[in-house]
Amino acid sequence: MILTYQEICTRCVARYEGYVARFFGDGMLAYFGYPRAHEDETQRAIHAGLEILDGLASLNSDEGKEGENLAARIGIATGPVVVGDIIGDGASQESAVIGETPNIAARLQACAEPNQVIVSAATKNLAAGEFDYRDMGEQSLKGVDRPVTAWLVVGELDHGSRFDAARGQQIAPLVGRDEEQDMLVRRWQRALSGSGQVVMVSGEAGIGKSRLTHGLRDQIRDQRHIELNYQCSPFHVSSALYPVINQLERAAGHAPDDAPETKLDKLEQLLGQSTDEIEFPSRLLAELLSLPGKRRYGEVDVSPIQQKDQTLQVLVRQLEGLGESQPVLVVFEDLHWADPTTLELLDLIVEQIPRIPVMLLATHRPDFRPAWTGEAQVSSISLSKLDPGNCSALVEGVAGGLSLPPEVLDEIISPRRDLLRKPSCTGTGLQGLPVRARRPKRLTTIWGLPWMDSNSYLRPTRIDICGSIFWVKESRRLLPLAVTPARK
Ligand SMILES: Nc1ncnc2c1ncn2[C@@H]1O[C@H](COP(=O)(O)OP(=O)(O)O)[C@@H](O)[C@H]1O
Ligand SMILES: [Mg+2]
Repeated sequence: MILTYQEICTRCVARYEGYVARFFGDGMLAYFGYPRAHEDETQRAIHAGLEILDGLASLNSDEGKEGENLAARIGIATGPVVVGDIIGDGASQESAVIGETPNIAARLQACAEPNQVIVSAATKNLAAGEFDYRDMGEQSLKGVDRPVTAWLVVGELDHGSRFDAARGQQIAPLVGRDEEQDMLVRRWQRALSGSGQVVMVSGEAGIGKSRLTHGLRDQIRDQRHIELNYQCSPFHVSSALYPVINQLERAAGHAPDDAPETKLDKLEQLLGQSTDEIEFPSRLLAELLSLPGKRRYGEVDVSPIQQKDQTLQVLVRQLEGLGESQPVLVVFEDLHWADPTTLELLDLIVEQIPRIPVMLLATHRPDFRPAWTGEAQVSSISLSKLDPGNCSALVEGVAGGLSLPPEVLDEIISPRRDLLRKPSCTGTGLQGLPVRARRPKRLTTIWGLPWMDSNSYLRPTRIDICGSIFWVKESRRLLPLAVTPARK
């Protein structure tokens, strides 16, 4: 039983590219951000925590299961840690991560009830828009000299886009990108006249693809239209039609505790907006959403390949149906993570689009090569870095009225300070940038802070977080560490 439990934990942590440092008894210690850094470690850690609980719940409901029900308590904390060289195993591994963060995580775990994920305030703040939390009040934790506010993760919030989830309500004003904005508006107008358009926006992570997309959504907010948002996920690159399933569940208004029959009713209502013929599409889409539609609609009695083709046809038909009543803006975010079936669906949409008042706006990183470029209805925008003047405006926008000393501004936007070009910086965001400090020798890597100087021993006394700009106050100097926009 313990082995099954450990297997579930390992699988969930691995799925979000965390690192299982060790198991002790029935406990487990995992790191996110080490040894591999991502820009969204806190979100990954919380997703992994929730999935462990889901995994245990489905294990408990297995019919053939023997023995007791399993439950877990999960604590997550975020902060800088010092990582020694992880060599050997057992006790030496355990002492490899030094800092108060692992201690806080362990203590929060102890505060949790079975089947709860409890996180620290720092963790919650970094993943604020993506999950729903309940304030568990201040806790005095053993070994921590100040009270720590604990937050219970109630569940995931479904925004339809990573950008919206990360922003919450706040969004810095759009800087520059006038030409790109104009082009998007022109394509939208052409789509309104009935000749549908596809615009592909490409660029590196953090360059501003989603911000530009948001700009168009904002501009046409007051016009009569329907907006459909699809978000591809790095965690579901091979799960067929993942972004579509997600969008359908959101659009239908499925709540986690809805009964299956209620979900089917809601799906029918949704389909009613685009077609008069409900039964055939409902049967296929119920199947797609893993809802029990057999009793209501009968078996889907075709081969799996035919079923896929019919499902794609139903989805295209649904879009055409919506387009008959109103213009539609379809936003597909992060196509580099799209599963093959979603790309097949897009092939079909791109083919049909010249005949319907629909604009498909898709974003992707440069390594993804869409198959459609070259078609008359398709245009591409490749985003490059903002010029220095716009960078200053952007930083000031993010700082939200905070006036930054010129030398600080200069440090942030100067090309010399392009932190990510440093060879030892493997991450793309602030939370996981490693710093190598030569002294003292035993402590080789400080995790959670970006590179500053290969020869300095960093003693951050305080970390202030204001907007997206992070500072470390180190001895007498105030050093800007990183600003998330445009990865500078
Ligand atoms: N031109 C811009 N004006 C204002 N903010 C921007 C601009 N470009 C990027 N940003 C901000 O930079 C961050 C990263 O941009 P985002 O659009 O999420 O990047 P991408 O989608 O290309 O990964 C976001 O906080 C975004 O609001
Ligand atoms: Mg984006």
